[in-house]
Amino acid sequence: MLRAGGLVALPTETVYGLGANAEDPAAVSRIFQVKGRPPSHPLIVHIGDAAHLDGWVEDVPPAARLLAERFWPGPLTLVLRRGHRVPLEATGGLETVAVRVPDHPVALALLSAFGGGVTAPSANRFGSVSPTTADHVRAELGAAVDFVLDGGPCEVGVESTIVDATGEIPSILRPGGVTREDLEATLGRPLAVPATSRIRVPGQHPSHYAPRARVVLVEPEKVVAEAELAQESGHRVGVLLPPSLSDVPVKAHAMVAVPASMAAYARGLYGFLRELDQQGCDLIVASLPVEEGLGLAIANRLRRAAGPRSTV
Ligand code: TXA
Ligand code: MG
Repeated sequence: MLRAGGLVALPTETVYGLGANAEDPAAVSRIFQVKGRPPSHPLIVHIGDAAHLDGWVEDVPPAARLLAERFWPGPLTLVLRRGHRVPLEATGGLETVAVRVPDHPVALALLSAFGGGVTAPSANRFGSVSPTTADHVRAELGAAVDFVLDGGPCEVGVESTIVDATGEIPSILRPGGVTREDLEATLGRPLAVPATSRIRVPGQHPSHYAPRARVVLVEPEKVVAEAELAQESGHRVGVLLPPSLSDVPVKAHAMVAVPASMAAYARGLYGFLRELDQQGCDLIVASLPVEEGLGLAIANRLRRAAGPRSTV
C-alpha cells in the first residue's frame, strides 16, 4: 500500500502515525488533506535504521550522531538539513527535515520490508488528541486511511522529543518521550527548552493535543474545589485527579485518578482525555505535574490542550 501511494496507520512506541511513502509527494499531500493540517506544518520522516540516514539528511553534526547512537530506535526526533530524498511537501518547504527511528517491532518490520522512509504525523485530525491505540485511529480517521496496522497500545504514550540538531548547540523544540535530563547527560551540557509559562497564560499556547471538552488547569490543591464549582454551575465536569488527592471524593460528572508514576501517566494521558470526552464532559479540570523527566512532556501537552481554541 505504501508503494501504491496509500496511507497506512502504524503503531510506534509514542503514538500511532499516519504513514505515507516519504518520496511520493502526492501521497504526502494526502496526509495533510486527511488530517486537515496546514501544508506548512512539516512532517517527521521515519526510517528503519540510523545507518540509513544518507539521502534523508545532508550532514550529521557530532552532537546529532551522539544522540542518534544513544537514543535510536526510540522516542527522539532529530531536525537536520534536508537530504535529496525528502520532497519539500514533507517539510512544508523547509530546508531542514525531522527524522527518527521508532522503537516498535511492527513499525520497524514495516520500515524494513518497505525499504524507504515513511512520513508520519500523529494519526489524528489536526489539533486533536494523538491516538495511542488502533481503535483511536479507526474512530477518528475511519475510511480516510487505507489500512490500520494494529500493534497494541503505545508504550510511551506521548510524542517523541524533537531536538534541533542543525547547529553546533542542539535545543529542544518539543519535549517528549526522551527526557531532557537524559539528553543533557548524553551531551554533557544543559539544553535550551521552549519557553514554559505558568498556568493559564492566554494567547501563548494555541490549542493543540486537545480533547473536545475545554481544559482548565489549576494548582493541584484547587482541583476539587474548581471541579465542584463548575459542576454546580451546570457544567459536565471531568476531573484528572492528581495522585496526592487520590482518596478525595469529588462531585463531578466523571473522574480519572492520575497514576503516580510519570511513565504510567504519559502512557495513559491521551486515553484519559478521550475517555472524559466520551463520557460527555464539556469541561476538564486538571493540574500540571512537576516538570521533571516525563512530567515536562505531560505538562507541555496539558498546557497546549488548555490553550485558547483557534476558530480558523
Ligand atoms: O512521536 C512522534 O513524534 C509521532 C510519531 C508518529 O512518530 N509523530 C508526531 O508527528 O508527533 P506530528 O506531525 O504530530 O508532529 C511533528 C512535529 C510538528 O510539531 C512539526 O512542527 C515538527 O515535528 N517538525 C517537523 N519537521 C520539522 C522541521 N524541519 N523543523 C522543526 N520542526 C519540525
Ligand atoms: Mg501531532
